[in-house]
Amino acid sequence: MKPVVLVTRKLPEAVEDRLRRDYQPRLNPDDRLYSRDALIEAAAGADAIIPCHTERFSAEVIARLPASVRIIANFSVGYDHVDVEAAKGRGLVVTNTPEVLSDATAELTILLMLGAARRAGEGERLVRTRAWRDWSPSFMVGTQVSGKRLGIVGLGRVGRVTARRARGFDMEIHYHDLQRLPSDLEAGAIYHPTPEDLMPHCDFLAFHCVATPQTRKMLNSDRIALLPPGAIVVNASRGAVIDDEALIAALKSGKVAADGLDVYNNEPDIHPEYRELPNTFLMPHIGSATKETRDAMGFRALDNLDAFFAGREPKDRVA
Ligand code: DGY
Repeated sequence: MKPVVLVTRKLPEAVEDRLRRDYQPRLNPDDRLYSRDALIEAAAGADAIIPCHTERFSAEVIARLPASVRIIANFSVGYDHVDVEAAKGRGLVVTNTPEVLSDATAELTILLMLGAARRAGEGERLVRTRAWRDWSPSFMVGTQVSGKRLGIVGLGRVGRVTARRARGFDMEIHYHDLQRLPSDLEAGAIYHPTPEDLMPHCDFLAFHCVATPQTRKMLNSDRIALLPPGAIVVNASRGAVIDDEALIAALKSGKVAADGLDVYNNEPDIHPEYRELPNTFLMPHIGSATKETRDAMGFRALDNLDAFFAGREPKDRVA
């Protein structure tokens, strides 16, 4: 008997084809968002679940999952939506999809930097609403990216690709991580042992760290105060790493010249003031949204399932 797999969202066609070939998938062709109770109900008799970060597996949900479910193979690199300790406690295996979305997410980070620095959102709105009237030397003047200092919090896989791309703009790379990386991975990036040490070096600040209780609200008013005046903040990791009130106050005062955000607290009901401010460049959590990457994420999730059901250790096991 092929294992039964509950797939919470509509996945790329090629991924669903492979699912149909190798498993008994319960697909979601209309891509409806499951409520917590509907998810638990839909999992009845399933051996595995492939969720996205849009489904939350709190300790309570995990406790209520049918005993048949043995593995949660996430279609995401981030797994802060899963209570990993609760999963371990229940003997549930949890996997993610690292590596395959580094290029796409780094591309989006560069877009956020350019979009925020060069006021792309404002410019687009002007053209689209026919409000663009004139050219003048003082019109839509932004911040130059080339040659500036980029501080990266979390020089993991995505952070390192962002650093490589940013070097194409002659940027000097600074970073903070829990530990200093070996020099071949640093590739010349300058290490700062604490976020406080890093902040004064950031003309641009990018977050590529995971969301944990330790990184929650990592960008707060104390750390913003340490940034150079007119710094630009971008985030394509998780909204939780930013204290929204603190960042919004800094965007209003001009301490932070602009931000570029792809991820937010409480998506999609984001802090309403981000929408009101002219100096925010806002994307709807699309860091990994390229055809190539979404296919690769699905195949990676399936590789993990295949290994698990073949009695092997899944490559990307996180619990
Ligand atoms: C990820 O893979 O973590 C992306 O944010 C999409 O969920």
